[in-house]
Amino acid sequence: MENISVEKLMIEAKKASEYSYSPYSHFTVGAALLCADGEIVTAANVENRSYGLTICAERSAVVKAISLGKTDYKALAIYCGKADYPVSPCGACRQVISEFADGSMPVYFSGVDINNRVETTVAELFPFDALSEMKNGRYEE
Ligand code: THU
Repeated sequence: MENISVEKLMIEAKKASEYSYSPYSHFTVGAALLCADGEIVTAANVENRSYGLTICAERSAVVKAISLGKTDYKALAIYCGKADYPVSPCGACRQVISEFADGSMPVYFSGVDINNRVETTVAELFPFDALSEMKNGRYEE
Protein backbone atom coordinates (compact mmCIF):
# COMPACT_ATOMS: atom_id res chain seq x y z
CA MET A 1 0.00 0.00 0.00
CA GLU A 2 1.35 3.36 -1.06
CA ASN A 3 3.07 5.20 1.83
CA ILE A 4 0.68 4.03 4.53
CA SER A 5 1.32 0.68 6.17
CA VAL A 6 -1.37 -1.81 7.05
CA GLU A 7 -0.36 -1.40 10.68
CA LYS A 8 -0.86 2.37 10.54
CA LEU A 9 -4.33 1.87 9.02
CA MET A 10 -5.21 -0.66 11.74
CA ILE A 11 -4.04 1.81 14.39
CA GLU A 12 -6.27 4.50 12.89
CA ALA A 13 -9.21 2.07 13.04
CA LYS A 14 -8.35 1.31 16.65
CA LYS A 15 -8.27 5.01 17.51
CA ALA A 16 -11.66 5.47 15.84
CA SER A 17 -13.13 2.64 17.94
CA GLU A 18 -12.59 4.81 21.00
CA TYR A 19 -15.50 6.94 19.80
CA SER A 20 -17.81 3.94 19.52
CA TYR A 21 -21.29 4.46 20.93
CA SER A 22 -22.15 0.90 21.89
CA PRO A 23 -23.95 0.82 25.25
CA TYR A 24 -26.07 -2.16 24.15
CA SER A 25 -23.55 -4.59 22.67
CA HIS A 26 -20.41 -3.14 24.28
CA PHE A 27 -18.76 -4.10 21.00
CA THR A 28 -16.47 -1.19 20.17
CA VAL A 29 -15.65 -1.08 16.47
CA GLY A 30 -13.63 1.39 14.43
CA ALA A 31 -12.95 1.61 10.72
CA ALA A 32 -10.31 3.44 8.71
CA LEU A 33 -10.78 3.91 4.99
CA LEU A 34 -7.68 4.89 3.03
CA CYS A 35 -8.76 7.14 0.18
CA ALA A 36 -6.99 7.51 -3.17
CA ASP A 37 -5.85 11.02 -2.16
CA GLY A 38 -4.00 9.54 0.83
CA GLU A 39 -6.49 10.79 3.40
CA ILE A 40 -7.84 8.35 5.97
CA VAL A 41 -11.54 8.61 6.77
CA THR A 42 -12.47 7.02 10.08
CA ALA A 43 -15.70 6.11 11.83
CA ALA A 44 -17.05 4.15 14.78
CA ASN A 45 -20.20 2.08 15.26
CA VAL A 46 -23.18 4.02 16.56
CA GLU A 47 -25.94 2.05 18.26
CA ASN A 48 -29.50 2.95 19.12
CA ARG A 49 -32.01 1.80 21.72
CA SER A 50 -34.05 0.71 18.73
CA TYR A 51 -31.39 -1.88 17.97
CA GLY A 52 -32.01 -2.18 14.25
CA LEU A 53 -31.02 1.44 13.72
CA THR A 54 -27.44 0.66 14.67
CA ILE A 55 -24.87 1.73 12.08
CA CYS A 56 -21.64 -0.22 11.74
CA ALA A 57 -18.27 1.51 11.75
CA GLU A 58 -17.21 0.52 8.26
CA ARG A 59 -20.51 1.47 6.64
CA SER A 60 -20.30 4.83 8.37
CA ALA A 61 -16.75 5.34 7.09
CA VAL A 62 -17.87 4.72 3.51
CA VAL A 63 -20.85 7.08 3.84
CA LYS A 64 -18.64 9.71 5.45
CA ALA A 65 -16.04 9.46 2.66
CA ILE A 66 -18.69 9.70 -0.06
CA SER A 67 -20.14 12.73 1.71
CA LEU A 68 -16.71 14.36 1.65
CA GLY A 69 -16.52 13.80 -2.09
CA LYS A 70 -13.97 11.02 -1.75
CA THR A 71 -15.04 8.23 -4.08
CA ASP A 72 -11.85 6.22 -4.69
CA TYR A 73 -10.29 4.01 -2.07
CA LYS A 74 -7.17 1.96 -1.57
CA ALA A 75 -7.86 -0.07 1.55
CA LEU A 76 -10.15 -0.53 4.54
CA ALA A 77 -9.22 -1.55 8.07
CA ILE A 78 -11.70 -2.62 10.73
CA TYR A 79 -10.86 -3.04 14.41
CA CYS A 80 -12.91 -4.43 17.29
CA GLY A 81 -11.73 -3.69 20.80
CA LYS A 82 -13.93 -6.29 22.47
CA ALA A 83 -13.16 -9.52 20.66
CA ASP A 84 -10.15 -11.83 20.83
CA TYR A 85 -10.73 -12.89 17.20
CA PRO A 86 -10.85 -10.90 13.95
CA VAL A 87 -14.33 -9.38 13.49
CA SER A 88 -15.45 -9.37 9.87
CA PRO A 89 -17.89 -6.89 8.31
CA CYS A 90 -21.57 -7.86 8.36
CA GLY A 91 -23.41 -8.73 5.16
CA ALA A 92 -25.04 -5.32 4.84
CA CYS A 93 -21.66 -3.60 5.13
CA ARG A 94 -20.13 -5.92 2.54
CA GLN A 95 -22.78 -4.84 0.07
CA VAL A 96 -22.31 -1.14 0.85
CA ILE A 97 -18.52 -1.40 0.57
CA SER A 98 -18.88 -3.22 -2.75
CA GLU A 99 -21.04 -0.41 -4.12
CA PHE A 100 -18.05 1.92 -4.12
CA ALA A 101 -14.85 -0.11 -3.82
CA ASP A 102 -13.20 -2.32 -6.42
CA GLY A 103 -13.27 -6.04 -5.79
CA SER A 104 -9.49 -6.00 -5.60
CA MET A 105 -9.39 -3.50 -2.72
CA PRO A 106 -7.71 -4.95 0.37
CA VAL A 107 -9.76 -5.24 3.57
CA TYR A 108 -8.09 -5.90 6.91
CA PHE A 109 -9.91 -6.78 10.10
CA SER A 110 -8.88 -7.68 13.61
CA GLY A 111 -10.11 -8.05 17.13
CA VAL A 112 -8.27 -6.46 20.02
CA ASP A 113 -4.87 -7.60 18.68
CA ILE A 114 -4.18 -5.76 15.42
CA ASN A 115 -1.48 -8.31 14.59
CA ASN A 116 -4.02 -11.15 14.62
CA ARG A 117 -5.81 -9.90 11.55
CA VAL A 118 -7.38 -11.25 8.41
CA GLU A 119 -6.19 -9.74 5.15
CA THR A 120 -8.70 -10.19 2.36
CA THR A 121 -10.39 -8.28 -0.47
CA VAL A 122 -13.82 -6.84 -1.22
CA ALA A 123 -14.40 -9.56 -3.86
CA GLU A 124 -13.57 -12.32 -1.41
CA LEU A 125 -15.98 -10.87 1.13
CA PHE A 126 -18.68 -10.22 -1.47
CA PRO A 127 -18.32 -12.57 -4.44
CA PHE A 128 -20.55 -12.80 -7.51
CA ASP A 129 -21.27 -9.08 -7.27
CA ALA A 130 -23.51 -7.98 -10.12
CA LEU A 131 -22.54 -4.32 -9.75
CA SER A 132 -18.84 -4.95 -10.36
CA GLU A 133 -19.81 -7.10 -13.36
CA MET A 134 -21.76 -4.12 -14.70
CA LYS A 135 -18.79 -1.82 -14.05
CA ASN A 136 -16.55 -4.20 -15.96
CA GLY A 137 -18.86 -3.91 -18.92
CA ARG A 138 -20.00 -7.50 -18.80
CA TYR A 139 -23.61 -6.53 -19.32
CA GLU A 140 -23.03 -3.97 -22.06
CA GLU A 141 -24.43 -4.82 -25.46
N1 THU B 1 -20.30 -3.88 14.17
C1 THU B 1 -19.57 -3.04 13.38
O1 THU B 1 -19.60 -1.82 13.56
N2 THU B 1 -18.81 -3.59 12.42
C2 THU B 1 -18.60 -4.93 12.26
O2 THU B 1 -17.86 -5.33 11.38
C3 THU B 1 -19.30 -5.88 13.14
C4 THU B 1 -20.37 -5.30 13.96
C5 THU B 1 -21.05 -3.30 15.30
C6 THU B 1 -22.52 -3.21 15.12
C7 THU B 1 -22.99 -3.22 16.57
O3 THU B 1 -22.90 -1.91 17.11
C8 THU B 1 -21.98 -4.08 17.28
O4 THU B 1 -20.84 -4.10 16.45
C9 THU B 1 -22.44 -5.49 17.57
O5 THU B 1 -22.85 -6.14 16.43
